[in-house]
Amino acid sequence: MNDRGYYDLHLHVLPGVDDGARTVEAGVEMLRGLHDLGYRHFVATPHCDDQRWPNDQATLVEAHRRLLEAIDGCGLEVEVLLGAEYTYGPRFHAHVTEKRAMTLASSRYLLVELPEAFMPATMPQTLFDVGGHGYYPVLAHPERCKPFHDDVSRLADLANGRALVQVSFRSLAGTFGRTIKKTAWRLVTDEIADLVATDCHDPRELRKVVRPVLLALQSRLDPDHLDRLMHRFPARMIHPPTA
Ligand SMILES: [Fe+2]
Repeated sequence: MNDRGYYDLHLHVLPGVDDGARTVEAGVEMLRGLHDLGYRHFVATPHCDDQRWPNDQATLVEAHRRLLEAIDGCGLEVEVLLGAEYTYGPRFHAHVTEKRAMTLASSRYLLVELPEAFMPATMPQTLFDVGGHGYYPVLAHPERCKPFHDDVSRLADLANGRALVQVSFRSLAGTFGRTIKKTAWRLVTDEIADLVATDCHDPRELRKVVRPVLLALQSRLDPDHLDRLMHRFPARMIHPPTA
């Protein structure tokens, strides 16, 4: 396996468990396309929320197993580990306080998307409390949160020492409009973003979203910055060096 390969710590590739890949074949197609673009390591992050996708370990393990079996069957050289993308809400709080949250590849890192319309004043304390339960939050596409659009330093202040900032390819591509696209690029170029992730839901996004954004990142960022965002930093999160 190419050890300099890119890491993607946020994509919806498990079959039939959320609004991502509908079938194993669609999941494999996504992984094959990402492999061809230089990715080798993935953490599958199905939605986990209170209404539409009340997933937990039990609902995801079988879908993960089926995908791994298909990858093996076609000889695709990729690593696909299991995680989840929590929506901020009661299920998230319950899993955290009961210490049974599904982290990224069994690390201490916990992917969570914050409310987009407003930011509760208690959020800094909440993130701190999540840390108190042994988890380190990773904020999924915070560029979509309105309170940060006028002033990205508010996000930097919120995340400082409490959470990591993960910007999504879909935002960088303009899928959610110009304001979110501008905020997303600002977070990357101002080096507030710790990570970038595809948040890929469908094989069709490979051509429309992932490839053009990857080319833009490769041309706009210096190689060391890109390597830190897409290889070094995520690699240390998922595969920390052993003493
Ligand atoms: Fe997502």
